[in-house]
Amino acid sequence: MRVGDKEFRTVWMEHDLVKMIHQPLLPHQFKIYVSKNYQETANAIKNMVVRGAPAIGATGAFGMAQAALQFRGTDKAKFDAYMENVYQTLASTRPTAYELFHAMGIVRKEIRNAPLVKEAQQTAVQKAQEYANESVENCRKIGEFGERLIRKNSNILTHCNAGALACVDYGTALAPIRIAHQNNKNIHVWVDETRPRNQGSKLTAWELQNERIPHHIIADNAAGLFMQKKEVDIVIVGADRIATNGDTANKIGTYEKAVLAKENKIPFYVAAPLATVDFNCKSGSDIPIEERNAMEVQHMSGWNEGKWVRVRIAPEESPARNPAFDVTPARYITGIITEKGVLKPSQLKKWNRFK
Ligand code: MRU
Repeated sequence: MRVGDKEFRTVWMEHDLVKMIHQPLLPHQFKIYVSKNYQETANAIKNMVVRGAPAIGATGAFGMAQAALQFRGTDKAKFDAYMENVYQTLASTRPTAYELFHAMGIVRKEIRNAPLVKEAQQTAVQKAQEYANESVENCRKIGEFGERLIRKNSNILTHCNAGALACVDYGTALAPIRIAHQNNKNIHVWVDETRPRNQGSKLTAWELQNERIPHHIIADNAAGLFMQKKEVDIVIVGADRIATNGDTANKIGTYEKAVLAKENKIPFYVAAPLATVDFNCKSGSDIPIEERNAMEVQHMSGWNEGKWVRVRIAPEESPARNPAFDVTPARYITGIITEKGVLKPSQLKKWNRFK
C-alpha cells in the first residue's frame, strides 16, 4: 500500500527481524514496529499491533522463520522440540483467525521434513516469504473477481477492516472496492465504525482516505437505516474462519449486518482467500470465538492534543463482555469471493483438495 511517497506491506521480514505497521497508532501516527524475537512477534499478534486474518497468518509464518534462524546449534531433535514450543507460543495468541494455524502449519511441515538444522532454517524463511507473496497475489485476484460484482454508482457497506492493513497487502473486502474506484465506477463506501476497537473508523477510513475513495463512517447501529432507505447496494466483508458449510466467523457485528441485508434484499458477500476455510470445522458452531478484555468495551481511546488518551465510558462498577467475532450462517451469504472465483457457500467443499 502507498503511504506518502513509499510502498509498504503490512508485515515483512528482514534478516531475523519481523517488521510491521504499528496498527494501534493509526490513523494518527504511522510507525513501524520491529519485533526482535518470536516472543515479541507473538505479543504483537496478541496485542493487535498486527491484526486481520491474512496479516496474522503471515506474521505467524515469519515468527516461525525468525525463531528458526535464531536457534544456535546443530542438534535436530533439540531444534524440533524448540520449534514445537515456538509454534505453541504463536498459536496461543488469537484463536479465531484460521490463517494463523494454516500458515504456521505449512512452515512447520517443511521444518520437520528437513534433515539438518541449517536446511530447516533456510526452508523456514523461504516458505514464510513465499506464503506472504502468495497471500498478496490471492488478494489481488479476489479484487479482480469481486470488482465485477460492483455496479457503477454503488454504495458499498463494509464492516471492520478487511483492507491492506488486515492482509500482507491489498486487502480482501477492500480489494474489489479499490479496483472499482480505479475503474471510475463512482462508488461510495459506508464504513461501520466497528466497536469496540474501531477498526472501521480508525483503519478502513484511513485506507480509503489515503486513496481518496469517497466514504462516510457510520455508527454500527446506523447500517439498518441506510439499508432500509435503499442507500446500500452491496455489502462486502472479510472473514476470519469459514467452516466447510460456508458459515463464516468475522468481526463482531457482521452477523447482524448479514441478517439486515437479507431482510432488505441486498447482496451480502464475504471476501476471503481459501486459506481462511477450515475444513476441520463442519459448521460455524465448531469455530472458536475469541473473547477479549472487557476493558475494550468499557473504555475508548483516541487522539487528543497530540497524544493518545484512553477514557472510561462505562460506570466504574459495570462489568462487560467482549466477544471479538460472531458467526454468520451460510444462508445469509450470497457468495464468497476467493482467489479461484466467486463461490456459493455450498461449493466450498469441492476446493478441499487445494489445501
Ligand atoms: O480483531 P481483528 O481486527 O483481527 O479482526 C479482523 C476482522 O474481523 C477482519 O474482517 C478479518 O480478519 C478479515 S481481514 C481480511
